Amino acid sequence: MRFVLPKGRLFSNSLKTLEKAGIELKPPENRELIVKNGRYELLLARAFDVPVYVEHGVDVGMAGSDVVEERESDVLIPLELPFGKCRLSLAMPEENLVSVEEMEGFRIATKYTNLTRKFFERKNIEVEIIKLHGSIELAPKIGIADAIVDIVETGNTLRANGLVEVEKIMDVSALLLVNRISQKTRFEEINELVLRIKEAVKDGI
Ligand code: PRP
Repeated sequence: MRFVLPKGRLFSNSLKTLEKAGIELKPPENRELIVKNGRYELLLARAFDVPVYVEHGVDVGMAGSDVVEERESDVLIPLELPFGKCRLSLAMPEENLVSVEEMEGFRIATKYTNLTRKFFERKNIEVEIIKLHGSIELAPKIGIADAIVDIVETGNTLRANGLVEVEKIMDVSALLLVNRISQKTRFEEINELVLRIKEAVKDGI
């Protein structure tokens, strides 16, 4: 059975959840990206790529609902996990604050180009989307964007960079993902795993 977990902020809770469910996966060393542990194999991927790996054949994964929706991945989601809670929000510099309806023609910096496009389409507002891969809060600070769409957890990063949350686009949580074919071909094994994880996280992690 192969698991793919996201490097970065969800990694330690993902691994801990599997451990609590009785699946001991040795964390990788020396920049290894695959670790074998008996009949289990642990793969490490960029958070944005985890749903893509699961869609294309890795049995099980854990990823944020933000990236699952952004990548529009065709995967099964048997369980929401009790970590990775945050939100995807639209934010702007406090000195140039306007309402969303006044954002026609604005440049929006984000990693979430799909979700941002859909958000503004729903509101019938045309904007220019600038794709960045991280440190999004920098873009309005140096004037290459008028607003950002990014993850907000504590709000510290926004505050530290003089940005104000204008509107929440979606609530985010870590999710358990299962490959559609694996769910059929490894039916019992996957069902047992989902039950064990459900039990392991029922009182939080
Ligand atoms: C995320 C997100 C924000 C920050 C939000 O960045 O992109 O920058 O965390 O958290 P806060 O509200 O608690 O401050 P991350 O550290 O994952 O790295 P990134 O900037 O490279 O995306």
